[in-house]
Amino acid sequence: MSRQNAFAAILAGGSGTRMGNSDKPKQFLMLGAKPILVHTVEKFCATGSFDAVLVLCPKAWVQQTRDLLKKYSPAFASSVEVVEGGATRNDTVANALAYVEANYEVDDDSILVTHDAVRPFVSCRIIEDNLISAREHGACDTVIPATDTIVESVDGAKFCSIPERSKLYQGQTPQSFKLRLLSSLMSSLTDDEKGVLTDACKICVLRGEPVALVMGDPSNMKITYPQDMRLASALLEG
Ligand code: CTP
Repeated sequence: MSRQNAFAAILAGGSGTRMGNSDKPKQFLMLGAKPILVHTVEKFCATGSFDAVLVLCPKAWVQQTRDLLKKYSPAFASSVEVVEGGATRNDTVANALAYVEANYEVDDDSILVTHDAVRPFVSCRIIEDNLISAREHGACDTVIPATDTIVESVDGAKFCSIPERSKLYQGQTPQSFKLRLLSSLMSSLTDDEKGVLTDACKICVLRGEPVALVMGDPSNMKITYPQDMRLASALLEG
């Protein structure tokens, strides 16, 4: 395969507490015939646009993740690398950066596409648009226009503003970056900043780096709560 100079990091290091009393993190729950994570990984492998597809999962799940990929996705399992995630989502992104930098040749144009393992309906079009946009702008985020009116309240009791909806978007993933740019921005963070900057695109905004918008899709939903599993099953069948 020719060099693509692009790497995918599937973020599967969370514990899924909002999903409730499950015996496993939500990314390992079955959706139709396969675990959620496997659906997501297959989307990235199928593009053929990456030198490596990484899955970052909790340490205790590394071997099981390899086994699950072999069982449910034998065609792609050998091209996926399973790596330990971190304590926070940003720590997981940092582990992906460190792994790629230690194991692959990277340059100023290398791209890292990061994606929530629990968004299994990401499309090939969204992934390819992320690659194009990150190459052109340095960083991009996948969004959809806000459909609900968003109100702002500082004290949780009274409105302080109702921002104009036409300027508001809901963030999805992928979020994609020039790898070296993200790496240097992340290593510039103070401990205090690390506590607040829970989103890699927010780090770019804080440091004055442009983040371009890539149009997502309502079907690129995130599985967070038990009711989202029912919606995801319906989407899969549809
Ligand atoms: N994630 C990660 N590493 C972490 C925390 C989260 O890779 N330390 C990943 C999750 O596995 C998920 C994605 O980031 O694919 C989006 O996070 P979220 O939906 O908040 O997942 P959890 O943190 O697992 O959920 P919860 O907040 O309910 O515990």
